[in-house]
Amino acid sequence: RDYVLPSRVNPGEWYALPQSPQLFKQLLMVSGLDRYYQIARCFRDEDLRADRQPEFTQLDMEMSFMSQEEIIELNENLVCHIYKTVKGIELQRPFPRLTYAEGMERYGSDKPDTRYGLELVDVSDIVKDSGFKVFRDTVTNGGIVKILPIPNGNDVISNVRIKPGGDLFKEASEAGAKGLAFIRVRDDGEIDTIGAIKDNLSEEQKQEILRRTGAKAGHLLLFGAGEAATVNKTLDRLRQAIAREFNLIDPEKINLLWITDFPMFEWNADEKRLEALHHPFTAPHPDDLSDLKTARAQAYDIILNGVEVGGGSLRIYQREIQQQVFEAIGLSPEEAQSKFGFLLEAFEYGTPPHGGIAYGLDRLVMLLAGEESIRDVIAFPKTQQARCLLTDAPSSVDAKQLKELHVASTYKPKS
Ligand code: AMO
Repeated sequence: RDYVLPSRVNPGEWYALPQSPQLFKQLLMVSGLDRYYQIARCFRDEDLRADRQPEFTQLDMEMSFMSQEEIIELNENLVCHIYKTVKGIELQRPFPRLTYAEGMERYGSDKPDTRYGLELVDVSDIVKDSGFKVFRDTVTNGGIVKILPIPNGNDVISNVRIKPGGDLFKEASEAGAKGLAFIRVRDDGEIDTIGAIKDNLSEEQKQEILRRTGAKAGHLLLFGAGEAATVNKTLDRLRQAIAREFNLIDPEKINLLWITDFPMFEWNADEKRLEALHHPFTAPHPDDLSDLKTARAQAYDIILNGVEVGGGSLRIYQREIQQQVFEAIGLSPEEAQSKFGFLLEAFEYGTPPHGGIAYGLDRLVMLLAGEESIRDVIAFPKTQQARCLLTDAPSSVDAKQLKELHVASTYKPKS
């Protein structure tokens, strides 16, 4: 969401504060300026978290005639240089890479914290013919069943915590899960299950699950079952909560990695349309052009200890492909023309292939400083409710000022 500003001199019209300089840096490439680098202030009207502020700063770059490999190499050198200069730490290159699909499969996340294990295990094929209806129906209907194996979890995590009302159940249900089935492996190796799972998984199925998850005495296995996105979100949250509780995170570790091969689009269930996972200017993978809807993108995110510190891509530089992508996200040719006509027209002039990346500078500084929140590294940050505690912004303005701006408020305070 944009922050919008009414125009005083153009009645009834609005500016949007920049979410990023994306289109402008691309137009600079079109104009023949082949290297761009900027520290850019950005504004986004989104729900705030520890690593998000409404006003933040990007370290933003764009380059013509560079491949994805060259951009990644340049950026690894940049991050190594920053660590060397700021912290005196020599990082190992190349940084590991995971595809988006691997990240989802192993960690349920496209920004996994790899400082600890707790990898997820898919058991859909084992339980798809089981007597447990929830698992069977889930897999039949295209969903998945995955496990978060927790070594030594059996003793520490009681049934109360996993069942409705418990803290881990709450964590799971906030991610959309309806329940949390589990298997305990007791210290004597005895398998312990309760409820529907007890009577409806065969001994072979239980043994196969133990084998695949590598579960040993003392393990607790937590199940997620349902739509892949919900299962991954649930188990990712639980994985992080367990890592914190069991002190599995070594604060001295610096785990950098690239996530590549993102899908071009994801389904927006509320608006019932595809939307671009990064932004609609990201180039599709050349091998996937025959079906854009399922295509991979030539996009890459850089992840540092489970935080997305930067993201970028190669860009579309041909008018036809850009138009196809606009069409895929549900923009009519007229809408595409009115919103992005200047870009489509610019592509007519022989645009060089180009790409780039932007870092969240505040996030990077937060991690370099060993802080937990970007509020700790921003002067005068906003609260979670997007308020400035010092100046009390946002606040009301005079009727006169609103009039000058041709704006009337429809807001009615609750009585
Ligand atoms: P993206 O939207 O991924 O990409 O943003 C780039 C990086 O900016 C940081 N970031 C934020 N930091 C603090 N508060 C926020 N609200 C916030 N939102 C994003 C993140 C993120 O990785 N134009 C593209 C970049 C490109 O393709 O070149 C863009 O803005 O660290």
